[in-house]
Amino acid sequence: MKFHLISGGCGFVGRNMVQRIYKTTNDAVVFIDNLLVGKHPSEWLGLPRAGKRGNMEIFGEDERLFFIHDDFRNFLREMGQNPNWVQETYGLEFDKFEDVFHFAAIVGGRAVIDGDPMMVALDLAIDAEFFFWVCRYQPARVLYPSSSAAYPVNLQTESGAIALQESDIDFNNMGQPDMTYGWSKLTGEYLAKIAAEYYDLKVTCIRPFSGYGEDQDLTYPIPAIAQRIARREDPIEVWGSGKQGRDFVHIEDVMDCIFVAMDKIHDGTAINIGMGRLTSFLEIIEVLSKIAGYEPAIKPLLDKPVGVHSRYCNMDFVQEKLGWEAKITMEEGMRRVYQAALAREQAAKVS
Ligand SMILES: NC(=O)c1ccc[n+]([C@@H]2O[C@H](COP(=O)([O-])OP(=O)(O)OC[C@H]3O[C@@H](n4cnc5c(N)ncnc54)[C@H](O)[C@@H]3O)[C@@H](O)[C@H]2O)c1
Repeated sequence: MKFHLISGGCGFVGRNMVQRIYKTTNDAVVFIDNLLVGKHPSEWLGLPRAGKRGNMEIFGEDERLFFIHDDFRNFLREMGQNPNWVQETYGLEFDKFEDVFHFAAIVGGRAVIDGDPMMVALDLAIDAEFFFWVCRYQPARVLYPSSSAAYPVNLQTESGAIALQESDIDFNNMGQPDMTYGWSKLTGEYLAKIAAEYYDLKVTCIRPFSGYGEDQDLTYPIPAIAQRIARREDPIEVWGSGKQGRDFVHIEDVMDCIFVAMDKIHDGTAINIGMGRLTSFLEIIEVLSKIAGYEPAIKPLLDKPVGVHSRYCNMDFVQEKLGWEAKITMEEGMRRVYQAALAREQAAKVS
């Protein structure tokens, strides 16, 4: 049986990846999370716990999912000293990890990016230790999630925003990324390039724009707005004027694109993942309230952090190189998020 490794496997992207691999393959997944932000698998996996060995829990009757509750850096240090540490410590039988997905990071949305930039800077430490380890361990393939925050902020202003293209990041001619979060992602991309060029590592970088989904934390704007609309709040609060915009892409599309990219890109090249469409928060409220069937007034919260004005991407490079485009329309995605929010509201009323 093949074994894959996912760091940050209990966060938003990680959870979706654990479930995707479990449902679409017969492979095993070891996933690690310190649960700083992530949710314990019993909350989202929907599978019975089949066993426990120390700080590792096994899920599913076919025993293919292994959750280690730990700081990923501890794991990296142990594995750095003994490449068979995980097999020997937890009694697992496999040769080597195949695909390694690195989602462990301090992210936290706008409030954390602007509110505690030095906490976010810890991502530099996690990523440095990660790349140091994978270059020596040499798994079959590595996925590094960069971010749209790596793009220069001066290309995202109210008057001068453009559809960001991969070539707008040029290590020979740099712009200023978005806070310590953007810098850490940009540095991660640079490490990925070095890993591919100097260590022959097969590595793929992605720059997801604003990923959203039904099970995203309520500290993120889409589920938060959907929740307010499911409660039929009137007025609806929005951070800033609401005119600021992002390129929202459903997490299922992000998952699809990752696998297409990992099959075709191995040299650390980073690709955009988005719809190639700028949508303002006011438009999101309009779509969601139309689904809910009412017309709330808007209450802008002008003291809240909003980040750059307009961040969206050009998907031409991905279409040409990978032949991929997002399938879930904005309306369909919002419908799903709204239904999930409504179900949560109804469950809360019952209990
Ligand atoms: N969600 C998006 O739309 C999006 C967009 C661009 C980039 N990304 C990138 O994808 C990755 C995952 O993002 P996410 O949205 O799932 O974030 P998230 O905060 O939901 O998940 C990160 C997970 O990592 C865990 N974690 C943090 N530090 C850890 C450590 N030292 N050891 C073990 N676990 C640790 C957290 O508990 C959390 O579960 C990040 O690198 C992020 O920058 C996400």
